[in-house]
Amino acid sequence: MFDHDVLIVGGGLAGSRAAVAIVQNEPGLKVGLISKVHPIRSHSVAAQGGMAATLKNVDTEDSWLAHAFDTVKGSDYLADQNAVEVLTRSAPDVIIDLEHLGVLFSRLEDGRIAQRPFGGHSYRRTCYAADKTGHAILHELVSNLFRYGTKVYLEWYVLQLIHEEGEVKGVVAYCIETGEIEVIRAKAVLFATGGYGRVYNTTSNDFASTGDGLCLTATAGLPLQDMEFVQFHPTGLYPVGVLISEAVRGEGAYLINDQGERFMANYSDSHNKMELSPRDITSRHIVQEVRAGRGIKRGPFVHLDVRHLGREKIISRIPFAREEGMRLLGIDCIDAPLPVRPTVHYSMGGIPTTVDCEVLGVDRKPIPGFFAAGECACVSVHGANRLGSNSLLECVVFGKRAGEKIGAYVQDRPMPTLEERPYVQEAEKLIKSLLNKKGTARIHDIRTALQDAMTEHCGIFRDQQSIQKGLQEVQKLKERYEKDLNLDDRGTIFNMELMAALELRSLFTVGEMILASALQRRESRGAHYRSDYQQRDDAQFLKHSLVYLSQDKTGIETNTCAVDLSLQTVDPERFMPQERKY
Ligand code: FUM
Repeated sequence: MFDHDVLIVGGGLAGSRAAVAIVQNEPGLKVGLISKVHPIRSHSVAAQGGMAATLKNVDTEDSWLAHAFDTVKGSDYLADQNAVEVLTRSAPDVIIDLEHLGVLFSRLEDGRIAQRPFGGHSYRRTCYAADKTGHAILHELVSNLFRYGTKVYLEWYVLQLIHEEGEVKGVVAYCIETGEIEVIRAKAVLFATGGYGRVYNTTSNDFASTGDGLCLTATAGLPLQDMEFVQFHPTGLYPVGVLISEAVRGEGAYLINDQGERFMANYSDSHNKMELSPRDITSRHIVQEVRAGRGIKRGPFVHLDVRHLGREKIISRIPFAREEGMRLLGIDCIDAPLPVRPTVHYSMGGIPTTVDCEVLGVDRKPIPGFFAAGECACVSVHGANRLGSNSLLECVVFGKRAGEKIGAYVQDRPMPTLEERPYVQEAEKLIKSLLNKKGTARIHDIRTALQDAMTEHCGIFRDQQSIQKGLQEVQKLKERYEKDLNLDDRGTIFNMELMAALELRSLFTVGEMILASALQRRESRGAHYRSDYQQRDDAQFLKHSLVYLSQDKTGIETNTCAVDLSLQTVDPERFMPQERKY
């Protein structure tokens, strides 16, 4: 058994920022960070457009309050306004911190950090490093992680969260390189495990975004919050789905349909902000254009046109978008428009936490020893729809906060006691059972069928019938996984087929929880659009949903999940809900 004062699971922006905060403030603590990929390959590295903060370098009249209002309105009023206040008030300082850690932001002529417009924000407040912002930030954080000597478990996969006697005591982990299984005990465990884009068939997320942290939390008997809110980014490159950054529209790109129209002008909720309307609205309108037969050549995509920006601006501000078009489709956006359609991008829901990143349990009380930050957490600053450039911000604000909180928390907490052997035996049994799968079904086929079912039945538009169909299909696929899966590789050294089988368990759990939550929210809010309940219903649903993987909990049962929409009423402390138009 390995011991740490603090164990961080996930090496992306939130995890690395937390680790750096702990080692800087409390150098005596034994901090471990475990990640199934090298931290530099965490999905944060792919973040492009930037990070919002009211530095007022471009728009001097901007304020944290305006940022907070935009965020709450963008969330369709479901965000917790106290958490939004923490996020937006902290933003300028965390940018300066990053700069001090070595992050190179793009500059204005006078040398101050440049800021660009982004969807749903009423001022130019997004700080950026061209369109490779995540890359710029993550490299510095990870360099600092190693510089301060944090123990990094590279390419270890967490099999179980140890949650017993009402507290979290560590994890059970599998070393991908050697097949070794270890219990890692800790006074505090921080989940910073990222999102789950791979539950869907078109996503901007990398292959590792399989929702493992969410699955581990749910399997440990804890609730997840607001899982029905899945963000589709409007401009995934067609057909591959990789991200073409919102920065491209921030710099002035047009969305054009087959009739050559900037169609966002034709919708009453987007005709002012046009291409810089929030993502839920923009994605819906792209799909509406396609459904109305106005996709390009009647295909399932529209055009993103930057030609009018000119070569110099394209090369200096959005070089990565240009590279992607050229590399993946052979299209140079200087000369021709890019084909785009919505792609799954971000999870608004996740592990419920306080503003100090303490994970909330069944009774809404913090669970001793357990913290979460970043995309896997639901604090909730994004409510039903996140604004672009608020995600890097969330990772850094709450990653840092988690690090500060945990650094103090573990001073008074003894190392928990636990019996290691049963956990190791259970893990060995799981690995053995997977390695012995000798059915006929390939992981790839089951995974693709799951991703297709989620995309078809719980996409941008959903209704009761489609969601129920989705649940049935997922159940059938799960049975097939249990009874008929086949693994060819029966080794334990770098067995990536085994990893895929483990990740597929996570995809099933997350998929089911999304469907179950979507079924119970009978209204349309933010990214959750129910064709059978098209209006937002504040009287009944200005509430967070909680979903459990077990039917023992109170709530409405759906297959293996139970959803509770009765408890978490949102209290609009400052900004009262209004009709959302842009
Ligand atoms: O479009 C983008 O560059 C993505 C930014 C974000 O999700 O915040």
